Amino acid sequence: MSGPDQYGVVGHPVAHSLSPFIHAMFARQTGQSLNYRLFDFRPEELTQRIAAFFAEGGKGLNITLPYKVAAMACAGELTPRAQHAGAVNTLAMRKDGTMLGDNTDGVGLTQDLSVNQRVVVTRRRVLIIGAGGAVRGVLAPLLELNPEAVIIANRTADRAKALATAFSQMGSVQGVGFRYIAGGPYDVVINATSASLTGEIPDVPVAVIGPDTFCYDMAYGKGDTAFVRWCMELGCRAAVSGWGMLVEQAAESFRIWRGVRPLTGPVLSALTAS
Ligand code: ATR
Repeated sequence: MSGPDQYGVVGHPVAHSLSPFIHAMFARQTGQSLNYRLFDFRPEELTQRIAAFFAEGGKGLNITLPYKVAAMACAGELTPRAQHAGAVNTLAMRKDGTMLGDNTDGVGLTQDLSVNQRVVVTRRRVLIIGAGGAVRGVLAPLLELNPEAVIIANRTADRAKALATAFSQMGSVQGVGFRYIAGGPYDVVINATSASLTGEIPDVPVAVIGPDTFCYDMAYGKGDTAFVRWCMELGCRAAVSGWGMLVEQAAESFRIWRGVRPLTGPVLSALTAS
């Protein structure tokens, strides 16, 4: 295939995705020639349409909800972080014709925390609220920063405990139900529940948040999320929503595909300015 290299994001629905905007800005900034499009594939056609995209010369895909687990089957090889996450958000066709499956969500979070927000995780106590795919996706990179402890708290305690057990080799990680969260306030509190999407606040004790707590909502939207507002009202040190994670995971995908890591600041400013 001639012309610019082809990329895109696969989801269902996917029309709302900001990835085309983000990658177009990265491409302009780095002087790369590429096309990045939206692909709304139905579940029953997913693997066949992904295979067809690459067979026609496509170079890379992002994978978003609800396909991050299903798309693992398309990869010939998975990076360790994709294996830990049990999901892929990036597929990359390599020069030798093999397909790499990677997951950049976790590094998107740690990059945003450490570099953009200048939050120290090493030897700090971290509370993660939620125990779904979003948490599984970020646990390995978070534990690699060597926090003193990671507590996973979930409405359904068993899911938190199962996740903690699955990652117990990688550091100090414990799973609990909301009522059994001990020892607040925490240094870092991360909301990874889908409660944010409906404007709900997870029912965790207010004592988890103190004046030195940095609060992070993996969700994002126009203005502050309900969780961010709640944390601010409780007098936390700072609270931010997940725009930075969105842009940083995209930058890491771009680096995998193009071999150059774009600057994220200008894209983050453009997204949050409007
Ligand atoms: P994702 O892949 O986005 O993590 P998921 O696997 O459906 O999605 O997980 C959603 C997470 O949000 C779960 O931790 C869920 O808690 P349960 O495991 O108890 O269902 C959590 N969640 C959703 N709505 C919530 C609410 N109103 N209060 C607290 N937690 C909520």
